[in-house]
Amino acid sequence: MPLVSMRQLLDEAAKGGYGVGAFNVNDMEQIQAIMEAAKQTNSPVIIQASRGARAFAQDNYLYHLMLAAAELYPEIPLAMHLDHGNSFETCKSAIELGFTSVMMDGSLKADGKTPATFEENVAVTKQVVDFAHERGITVEGEIGVLGGIEDGHGAGGTGLEHVTDPDQAVEFAEKTGVDALAIAIGTSHGAYKFSKKPDGSVLKMDILIAIHKRLPKTHLVMHGSSSVPKDLQDIINQYGGKLKETWGVPVEEIQLGIRNGVRKVNVDTDNRLAITGAIRKVLWETPEKFDPRDYLKPAREAMQKVVAQRMTQFGQAGHAGDYKALSIAEIAKGYKDGSLSTKPLVADK
Ligand code: 13P
Repeated sequence: MPLVSMRQLLDEAAKGGYGVGAFNVNDMEQIQAIMEAAKQTNSPVIIQASRGARAFAQDNYLYHLMLAAAELYPEIPLAMHLDHGNSFETCKSAIELGFTSVMMDGSLKADGKTPATFEENVAVTKQVVDFAHERGITVEGEIGVLGGIEDGHGAGGTGLEHVTDPDQAVEFAEKTGVDALAIAIGTSHGAYKFSKKPDGSVLKMDILIAIHKRLPKTHLVMHGSSSVPKDLQDIINQYGGKLKETWGVPVEEIQLGIRNGVRKVNVDTDNRLAITGAIRKVLWETPEKFDPRDYLKPAREAMQKVVAQRMTQFGQAGHAGDYKALSIAEIAKGYKDGSLSTKPLVADK
């Protein structure tokens, strides 16, 4: 199966009432781990690459690895998504390379650090939507600003400084026509999200629910959704690591989000932790080893385990064969003739 439209994956997820994990990659082993987990659980899947990943791996390597994945797993609907595009040019270059979905993160200026105005965000996101939809490519926008910094991208902070305003979310969805909407509800990128198990004072699920009530058909996206499990932290620290105690987003909160319109769930940190723990263990226990396969294989297996678990928890498991993937040309036609709507359904307050 060729790479497919993320819009179709999310529309199908909405029909089925489940969420789809969007897992970040930088290299071959991470792509392999995700595809094996997708096969194991029979899941449709989104693989995403940030600007940092594109710089690390180079576009052509990444793209051709993704094509290999699509070729090797023809039964798995697979969308290739740009995570946190910082400008029209970044999104355009991803689309021209072959990504089937892009995120235009206009919540920040093009420096990827300074919060942008609402008007700036609308303008650049709409520009990307017009360019992308003409070509059948999905667009995710962001309203409100996430906390933390990921691959040099982010405003920093706790994530509570720029929580999404539901009225602005409605206006943003109406003015831009995005396919998916990332919102800020107190989560942040990276391992250090919360200093204790989060409650409603720091993880604003009430805001997510309020946005879903106003935009009942809009596909919501939860960023910063690693759960940062204690067992993965412990493995790292047991084998010489120095992670400080920390909490992520509990899976049951993500499941509450999925019951309230969340269709895409971004996970990167949990996989980074799993990989690092597995590599540390091998090098610590068998310091005489020097063949990279001796630690990359366990690292890949550890990531596959986490991804398969999330796929089951998000509900996407078992859904790979539910539908026939449309071609990107068919998707472009859908945007043009209006059968793929870009006008959000807005409910009264
Ligand atoms: P985590 O750091 O929580 O895995 O978040 C990843 C993410 O949101 C990528 O955009």
